[in-house]
Amino acid sequence: MKKIRVNASRPYDVVIQEGFENIGKTIKSVCSAKKIAVVTDENVFPLYYEKLADELRDFSLFPLIVGAGEKYKTTESFLKIIDALAGNKFSREDLVIALGGGVVGDVAGFAAACYLRGIAYIQCPTTLLAAIDSSVGGKTGVNLSQGKNLLGAFYQPSLTFINTLCEDTLSERERTSGLGEGVKYSYISENIKVEELFQNRAEFIFKCVDFKAKIVEEDEKESGKRKILNFGHTVGHAVEAASGYALSHGECVIKGIDAIIDLSADFYGFSDEKKQRLKLPLKDFDRNIAFSAKEIAERICSDKKIRGGDIDVVLLKEIGQVEIVTMKLSEFKERLYAVMR
Ligand code: GLY
Repeated sequence: MKKIRVNASRPYDVVIQEGFENIGKTIKSVCSAKKIAVVTDENVFPLYYEKLADELRDFSLFPLIVGAGEKYKTTESFLKIIDALAGNKFSREDLVIALGGGVVGDVAGFAAACYLRGIAYIQCPTTLLAAIDSSVGGKTGVNLSQGKNLLGAFYQPSLTFINTLCEDTLSERERTSGLGEGVKYSYISENIKVEELFQNRAEFIFKCVDFKAKIVEEDEKESGKRKILNFGHTVGHAVEAASGYALSHGECVIKGIDAIIDLSADFYGFSDEKKQRLKLPLKDFDRNIAFSAKEIAERICSDKKIRGGDIDVVLLKEIGQVEIVTMKLSEFKERLYAVMR
């Protein structure tokens, strides 16, 4: 078992281990809940609910199933959870557990942030993507028809409990999605190599979470440094939305990283040789995804990270070295369009 302390405004541990053993004891050490709403989705429920419930026999459990996938990261799913919490008279002492991937974690976390103005919740990620990224750092929320994550809150969990055995059952699509975030870490941190994921998964997860925890501690509300965790995401989110969420998040992030390397090469004037070297970590993961450069550039305008006419872009200077550059939106669109055409 490994443990990382996240010293955010509300400090908490990230536990990384094989299996759910002792999770009940750990929960008792962080809250005094009697009732637990276990929010999960229709794919995860048959795989892990009973395994988790076996360890939580001292609590009254309320399983709550939402639809699986990004298209269910909605206000409807959020209200379904709120309704169940209110209907079962959950109090401020009670607890929500998010058992699932990034969507379940974001929606359940947001419901916990809003119900009774905030009750405790625990992240139990069952996908690689959620383990190395979304279950740590307190970003919660839902999508609106106008864009991804437009409604949400920074709300830290009381605990993140990563059972590394869960990733054994990932579908190919979920695996690629996690790989996208893994590749991202290998660009923004010198010490993380995505190949390590295939050698020692628990160690890889540990390194990613440890890296992210330090960034969250420094900039919890993403006013500066935390933006580097969005490397490849501005374009990636736009590609994802343009595909109607048919493409996985990770595939789109990889596409986004590819485009941002092109843009960085153009911005900093890299040689073609350097650009190709910087793209090497992508070679085993890049899919041939076709999209309209114009549509992507247009969609980026509705991204919430755009302040007035400016956009913060995370550019790559070298592997492990990124820079946040504020550009006029018109300049960004022009540059992006030029490199993606
Ligand atoms: N997924 C990026 C972040 O948590 O800041």
